[in-house]
Formats: sequence, structure tokens, C-alpha cells
Amino acid sequence: MRLDKGLISRAFERFRNIKILVVGDIILDRYIFGKVERISPEAPVPVVEVEKEEFRLGGAGNVASNLSNLGIRVYLCGVIGNDYAGHVVSGLLKEKGIHDITIEDRHRPTTQKARVVAVSQQLLRIDNESKEKIEGRVLEDLLERLDVDVDAVVVSDYAKGVVCKELMDRIRSKGVFFSVDPRPKNKYLYIGADLMTPNEKEARQMQEEESLQSLGWKLKNSLRLKTLVVTLGSRGMALFDREFKVFPARAKQVYDVTGAGDTVIAVLTAGVLAGLDWEEACELANICAGIVVGKLGTASPSFEEIIEYVEEDVKIRGEGT
Ligand SMILES: Nc1ncnc2c1ncn2[C@@H]1O[C@H](COP(=O)(O)OP(=O)(O)OP(=O)(O)O)[C@@H](O)[C@H]1O
Ligand SMILES: [Mg+2]
Repeated sequence: MRLDKGLISRAFERFRNIKILVVGDIILDRYIFGKVERISPEAPVPVVEVEKEEFRLGGAGNVASNLSNLGIRVYLCGVIGNDYAGHVVSGLLKEKGIHDITIEDRHRPTTQKARVVAVSQQLLRIDNESKEKIEGRVLEDLLERLDVDVDAVVVSDYAKGVVCKELMDRIRSKGVFFSVDPRPKNKYLYIGADLMTPNEKEARQMQEEESLQSLGWKLKNSLRLKTLVVTLGSRGMALFDREFKVFPARAKQVYDVTGAGDTVIAVLTAGVLAGLDWEEACELANICAGIVVGKLGTASPSFEEIIEYVEEDVKIRGEGT
């Protein structure tokens, strides 16, 4: 491994002077935990008695949350609705110290994914969302807010209508580093990105090809990407920069893989901006994603957790420092 405690400490010191704008689809993840003791008399379904409810930022909100945990100054732009979920999102952003430059759109709901969980098992997911493209006044306001002075932009696209040609053109015209977590149907919007981080399935939908290597190079060339990282789930990630290199996954236990992709794009962008090279940034992203999949829900690791992980790893491998 190329990373060590010194390199990671220096990167974290630099994070404090970095400003990043996250733009895209903001999602509210809602977890309703309860117990089931009987079947409903109304229909053959379980009755969940609610014991606890939790809200977490998802989608672009989770990318912002990951960056903020690293100590970076973060601005979040996207749309929320004029509803309860929208208020919850605003509250979570304030709590985390993320600069809220979201737009309220009265004509759409805040995107929310509610999960009903009983005895650690998901019974049901209820989605509330609009996938309609942003238009008119809301789009104009959104474009205006992108003028904020930052060192980089992260685009987190979940294809819910925020990421569109106008938005991408405005981002490109800022002339700063920009990275994209893509959705295959919007492939051609991402031309010229400094970094794109599809998972393997998304990469294969964007570019048909047998081998991962030729697929990656073709995708990178056709979209004129500076760097491409394809995440491979439990197998880690593949870097296509000047060369091709696979970084094996680093999780110890796996509880919940949701949000691992958000952590990857946040850490890669932050790492490279803080002066790490691509290989070091991939190592750090793998460590952070490994920590995240070992926890329930979307969460982002702290400096202490990362160092602990690296030190344990060094001990296990017997490499010394
Ligand atoms: N089962 C696993 N074991 C170890 N590491 C994992 C596992 N799943 C994911 N990871 C880590 O998380 C990273 C991203 O995972 P993945 O390729 O599943 O992204 P994704 O499908 O975009 O995830 P998301 O659900 O957040 O969209 C991987 O590159 C790896 O570092
Ligand atoms: Mg993903």
C-alpha cells in the first residue's frame, strides 16, 4: 500500500481549505423500525408497531455529508419539495454544517425512500419522487446558484430530473475540476468530466464490451474523461488513468452496501484535490467505502476511524510502517 498515516494526515489538513459544490438529486432516506406481533385483521399483512424512526441524507445529500465529515467546506445544490421531508432535509443540512443552496420546487415532492424494518429485515420500501426534468424558473434559479466560488463540483446523478444539459454546460463553464457519479441514460451529459465513477453494471450499460479493460478505455475515450474509476462492489475498484489498475476491496465485515458509491466519489474527489495521486486516492476511497459497508445505513468515516483501519491493516500484513 502506498498510503500511510503521514500522507493521510496531510490530506486531512488540506481538506479544511477546500470548498466543494455538490449538485444533483437529493434523497431523504427514512427508516421506520418496529416489531411485528400480529397479522392485520384488514388484510393478510403484518402489523408493524413503530418503535423508532430515523432520517439520513441520501443521494447527493450523502455525498455532501461524506465530504463534510472529511472537514471540507461543502455547498449542496438540488431541489426539495415544499413538504415535511423537505424540512427534514434542511434540518439535517444545518446540523451537519453543509451550506444549503437548495431550491424549493412547490410542484414536486422531496425525493424520499422510506424503509419499514422489523427484526433487522426490510419489509417494505415506499418511494416518493418525481423524475420530471427541472424546467423554467426553478431551473434558472438552480443555474444561478452554481456560480458559488468553489474548488470543485461533484455531480451526483440519480436521474430524477436535476442533472440536465443546461446544468452540465454551466458546470463546465466554471472551469474547475468536476466529477460525476453517473446514470447510464444520461451518458452523453458527462462529456469532458475530470472523473466519472460508475459501478460495473452502469459502466456495462454505457459501453458494451466483453472485458472490463477494453470497456473502460472505450468509455473513457468516447466521453473524453480525464480519469475513470469503475467500482466493482466486493471486488474493489478499477482505475483507468494513464494506466489500468485494480484495487481490491478492503472491507472486514459487510452489513449494508448502500451509499458506498457516494463515499467513493466523495473521497476520490477530495483526495485528488488535496494532492494525492490517483492510486493513493483509490486506496483511500477503498478504505473509506470498506468502513461504510461495515455499518448499517449510509455513514461516512472519520479521520480516526480511517487511521485505525490503516494501522490494523499494516499489522495484519506485517509490512511495518
Ligand atoms: N461487499 C463488499 N465488500 C467490500 N467492499 C465493498 C463491498 N461492496 C462495496 N464495497 C466497496 O464500496 C465501493 C463501491 O461499491 P459498489 O461498486 O457496489 O458501488 P455502487 O453500486 O455505486 O453503490 P451504491 O449502492 O452506493 O450506488 C467498492 O469499490 C468497494 O470499495
Ligand atoms: Mg452508485
